[in-house]
Amino acid sequence: MIFLKGDKIMCGIVGYIGRRDCSDVLMDGLEKLEYRGYDSAGIAVFENGEIKTVKTRGKLKAMTEKLARDGKPQGFCGIGHTRWATHGEPSDVNSHPHSNGRVTIVHNGIIENYAQLKEFLTEKGYEFKSQTDSEVVACLLDYYYAERNPLRAIMETVRELHGSFALGILFKDFPERVYAVRKGSPLIVGVGDNEYFIASDIPAFLKYTKKYIILDDDEILCMDTNGIEFFDVHGITIKKEIQTAEWDVEQAQKCGYPHYMLKEIHEQPTVVRKTLDMLVKDGVPVFDEIGLTDKMLRGVSRVFVVACGTAMHAGIIARYAIEKLARVPVTVEVASEFRYMEPIVGENDLVIVVSQSGETADTKAGLELAKSRGAKTLAIVNVKYSAIAREADMCIHTPAGPEIAVASTKAYSVQVAALYLIAFRFAFARGIILEDELKRLTEQLYRSPEAIENVLKNKDECQFIASQLVNVETLFFIGRGFDYALSLEASLKLKEITYIHSEAYAAGELKHGTISLIEDNVPVITVATQQNVLPKTISNMEEVKARGAKIIAICRKGTEFAEDTVDLRLDIDADMDDILVPLPTVCALQLIAYYTSVLRGIDPDKPRNLAKSVTTE
Ligand code: AGP
Ligand code: GLU
Repeated sequence: MIFLKGDKIMCGIVGYIGRRDCSDVLMDGLEKLEYRGYDSAGIAVFENGEIKTVKTRGKLKAMTEKLARDGKPQGFCGIGHTRWATHGEPSDVNSHPHSNGRVTIVHNGIIENYAQLKEFLTEKGYEFKSQTDSEVVACLLDYYYAERNPLRAIMETVRELHGSFALGILFKDFPERVYAVRKGSPLIVGVGDNEYFIASDIPAFLKYTKKYIILDDDEILCMDTNGIEFFDVHGITIKKEIQTAEWDVEQAQKCGYPHYMLKEIHEQPTVVRKTLDMLVKDGVPVFDEIGLTDKMLRGVSRVFVVACGTAMHAGIIARYAIEKLARVPVTVEVASEFRYMEPIVGENDLVIVVSQSGETADTKAGLELAKSRGAKTLAIVNVKYSAIAREADMCIHTPAGPEIAVASTKAYSVQVAALYLIAFRFAFARGIILEDELKRLTEQLYRSPEAIENVLKNKDECQFIASQLVNVETLFFIGRGFDYALSLEASLKLKEITYIHSEAYAAGELKHGTISLIEDNVPVITVATQQNVLPKTISNMEEVKARGAKIIAICRKGTEFAEDTVDLRLDIDADMDDILVPLPTVCALQLIAYYTSVLRGIDPDKPRNLAKSVTTE
């Protein structure tokens, strides 16, 4: 299997030096990175001065069995990997770590010029054991290790590599030492008490330390029993800042829930409240601290929201809210389109990029493009140490804590909460609403945690709706306005984790073609919370009902429908303005997707083919 530049790369890297049982630390770290998606795993540990490698195709369970069978490497220093194959099928031999000569490596990413390098190295007498692009890195490091200087070998090698990489490296001659370098793929260094870690993401070492350092592109790390040292591409020592993760271990664990997704859905009241507390001062939203002043908001002529997937759907809610309240035109663009569409964007525009991970390649490219055109850029990002958070002019770090499940839930809710507050402030800054209304809207939004709680209390009803969907082949979500934005998100969530085909339609659009797909018993989940369009939505329900559809209505408590229109209904008990009801409503839609997934025997945390963070186009 060969993937070209631009495909997804996931995988996980870990590395350790300290006094703990290294194999255990590595396996534990890899388990925390499982959410990233992988097909094989392996570790390499210095055992009495020799590198001992154990690797296998399959999940970590297969690794654990192999370690139990063949013996666990005993030592205090090593590297580990979960592979998401790009070059060469998932197999034992293609699994990482890879060794050649005196070097053992783990690699995340793609070496685009691996074929040329392989040819060169073959001429130099190197023989290859695997089909991976990664093995050339091990060989090239060995080739440049002629002077037995690891740092020099890494510098020379990195100069020759095209593509993206995060590398953990062991040199046979230097037991008790791990090197690392990266370009394009994430790598974080964990700093403990006389022990150090490398990992693709913080949860891998959070159990041991909250202190971390971000390894930037082209920087080289050396960690051994004496400490850690960083070098630039020229081998000059550089100083790096130690930061402290605000996340704690419980946040990165399931805490008794059967799945991360369910836990994260339940965290929504807390994290939405946290978001409001973070951005509201004296009863009104204030963004001066990050540079988003009223003066700036007054000067903005257009807003773009650029994002992917669920984050983009949060942008659609923002569009309805900002246009309605602040009367500023908002365009929501899928980041992969925005970056190549020659967008007409300039200095008077505000480009809001929204991303949970802060590493999504297309969103990052959209941000860079907007910046290059002189637009003001604001990032709404959940991962503080991410590339997007660091690159944008202004940044709101949403306090959702680590989101482990592949399907985004709580990150969406905090994005939506932050975007509502921006819409309110926008309207105020432009003189469309006065302070009283600003305060009233903010107070209304403060009711959303309780409204989400109400939905969570009724989760049995969501479970019942899920039981009606388990065996269907296709279904539709329809809604108008904010309800349409929610339908898009609900449909994505359902598809991601249940593998049921579904489509989301603006309720009035269905009859322009898609209604031909409605036949007996096809479920049409109608999101009908917006009173201003309710009669219209009801007519659309009737239209599909007349063609045999089974109507499941998600509506506000007290909504009245004519007899027999609705087969099933789920009431949203929320004492707040219609425009804010998406927050509790999305929770119900997430629960329906979650329970349907579980009832279909799927692990909702790790749906097939998907990755949590998509770091290439
Ligand atoms: C969400 O459930 C999806 N897994 C996916 O659409 C995601 O929202 C998208 O890839 C964007 O990710 P980001 O927020 O990390 O940028
Ligand atoms: N390209 C490498 C391989 O196929 C690494 C893939 C990964 O990032 O897991 O082995």
